[in-house]
Amino acid sequence: MADNALQERIEAIRAEIREKAEGLDSSRLVYEMKKTFMDPKQGKISALMKDMKNIPAEQRADYGKAVNELKTWALDHFEKIDRKMKELELKRRYESEKLDITMPAKKETPGNLHPVTQMREQLIDIFSGMGFEIYEGSEIENDYYNFTALNTPQDHPARDMQDTFYLSPEFLLRTQTSSGQIHVMENKKPPIKILSPGKVFRSDDDATHSPMFSQMEGLVVDKKITLCDLKGALDLFVQKIYGEETTTRLRPSYFPFTEPSVEVDCSCFSCGGKGCGLCKGTGWIEVLGAGVVNRKVLANCGIDPDEYSGFAFGIGIERTAMLKYGINNIKLLFESDLDVLKQISDYQ
Ligand code: PHE
Repeated sequence: MADNALQERIEAIRAEIREKAEGLDSSRLVYEMKKTFMDPKQGKISALMKDMKNIPAEQRADYGKAVNELKTWALDHFEKIDRKMKELELKRRYESEKLDITMPAKKETPGNLHPVTQMREQLIDIFSGMGFEIYEGSEIENDYYNFTALNTPQDHPARDMQDTFYLSPEFLLRTQTSSGQIHVMENKKPPIKILSPGKVFRSDDDATHSPMFSQMEGLVVDKKITLCDLKGALDLFVQKIYGEETTTRLRPSYFPFTEPSVEVDCSCFSCGGKGCGLCKGTGWIEVLGAGVVNRKVLANCGIDPDEYSGFAFGIGIERTAMLKYGINNIKLLFESDLDVLKQISDYQ
């Protein structure tokens, strides 16, 4: 092949590469185009190499040199465009994946625990901090544990205080978590310090009463336990639930299983004791029933009342939650209305 003809062929290939490269816009196209020139079998530059055998021996060295130069130039050129394409592709990717940080975020709606569960957990937290252990009794009890052992024998007028759902002459749905006191004292010798949360049932139904509700029983039995110990524990409880400033006041009351028995009021956390709608102008709100464990109850469980004494209390969990969260109808706690339940969370 004449020198000039070779030169022309080489220039034509160079021009072709330059021109075609202009229109490329992805590294895949660069790769494909590179193949059409460099492929060992079909590539146009490889074809020049293959022609070597037809070149007269004395021209072969020059021919080879010229073709090699073209090959080096082409490789270099392809590499340059490939790099450019890769940059372009990256830029395109950045564009397409760009985050608009000014876009309003999707609203997260995390769930929250039911107010009764929240209150139950807070109470457990407070009393376990004072060393109380949890005992969960059963919802079905027999007459002995719910009444008789608690110094409320058949025909005792106090049975009327709690309208009972009987399952049979012997079995009933427990009306109070106090039944757990007997189980604990029968099975454990003092010192005893238990907290017994659970559902209780009474045939009672109005804005503040529901046939099913939850109580949290507390029982402490040890040597020299007095009403003062009860007041100390309950003061801490009202402070933690209703605020540091809250105090308690004990009023005489009656329960067959405690003697003396008290009704516990806490100072109104809404008005600070001045008198408002919540405390009906009195400055005090009734929160629970309690007392010193009746000697007869200790004796019923085989605990010597001359050696040991105790206190017990029963907190209504729904009532405590209603007061704290300002709910005026107990039904709101059982209707599962999400619009209501969503508003009541100590965790927000
Ligand atoms: N069991 C009583 C009630 O349900 C509350 C209570 C518990 C009172 C413990 C005194 C001691 O009304």
